[in-house]
Amino acid sequence: MTDWLGLQGKIAAITGGGGGIGRAVALGMAKQGVTPVLLDRDMAGCDQTLAVLRLVGVEARAIACDIADPESVRVAAEQAGPVDILVNNAGILRPGPLASLSLDEWNLLLSVNLSGYFLCAQAFGAGMRERGKGAMVHIASIASRFPQAASGAYSVSKAGVVMLSQQIALEWGPLGVRSNVVSPGLVRTPMSEAFYQAEGVAERRAKAVPLGRVATPDDIAEVVIYLASDRAGYVNGEDICVDGGFGRTTMSTVPRPGFE
Ligand SMILES: NC(=O)c1ccc[n+]([C@@H]2O[C@H](COP(=O)([O-])OP(=O)(O)OC[C@H]3O[C@@H](n4cnc5c(N)ncnc54)[C@H](O)[C@@H]3O)[C@@H](O)[C@H]2O)c1
Repeated sequence: MTDWLGLQGKIAAITGGGGGIGRAVALGMAKQGVTPVLLDRDMAGCDQTLAVLRLVGVEARAIACDIADPESVRVAAEQAGPVDILVNNAGILRPGPLASLSLDEWNLLLSVNLSGYFLCAQAFGAGMRERGKGAMVHIASIASRFPQAASGAYSVSKAGVVMLSQQIALEWGPLGVRSNVVSPGLVRTPMSEAFYQAEGVAERRAKAVPLGRVATPDDIAEVVIYLASDRAGYVNGEDICVDGGFGRTTMSTVPRPGFE
């Protein structure tokens, strides 16, 4: 098998590796010869990912880590050792209209979805800069471009991730570290599963997307793998939206008689 992606023998730290998108990234990368190191606070979820990896003959490691806790991230990075790739993916989503949102709720979400990404980038980026090579892929969301109502600081955190990635691209690009973002649209994962359990939501969501379906975690993983690979060796500071065209539908929501 040719190593077209140039990923053979690489090591990737994947935060949220016990969840939906993180598991798909770990498996997809493993199939390309990458050894994943999972970081998550949910070790039961990580065990499931490790079991899936074992099915394709890959023995991986999981490290318990709360990305919002600087000490936990420091220890996890030490335990992980040198990595070639960081996938910043662990995140949370909480309901919360701004009018009644407490500062604690605001800060909690930012501490994971934004500061957690910064802490991991700093901890894993140090070795990449020393070695003069590395790739970071940060999972943001289509919500970084279009505000998601009643979701507290979620959209703000994702917009922050996009800018964090661009700043990393500028500061560490000259040292050989690329930084890019993948912004998923609607994806069915444990994070969003409760929505799909409600009557009719799966069908309505699928219909809202020009490609006619909600994304699978694999749809997102494919693009993460590309950005982490040598095939994206000159891509730095970009944000690829993986939403089946959903973000392009604004004009279709306007009634325009005769143009249906
Ligand atoms: N599911 C979607 O529709 C969707 C859409 C756009 C973006 N995203 C983003 O994709 C990423 C992955 O989400 P998912 O859908 O796979 O969700 P998920 O809930 O299946 O997985 C998230 C994982 O992150 C872990 N995690 C949460 N907080 C953590 C912390 N403080 N420290 C360590 N690990 C922590 C969880 O334990 C879980 O395993 C998130 O950043 C999310 O915001 C998801």
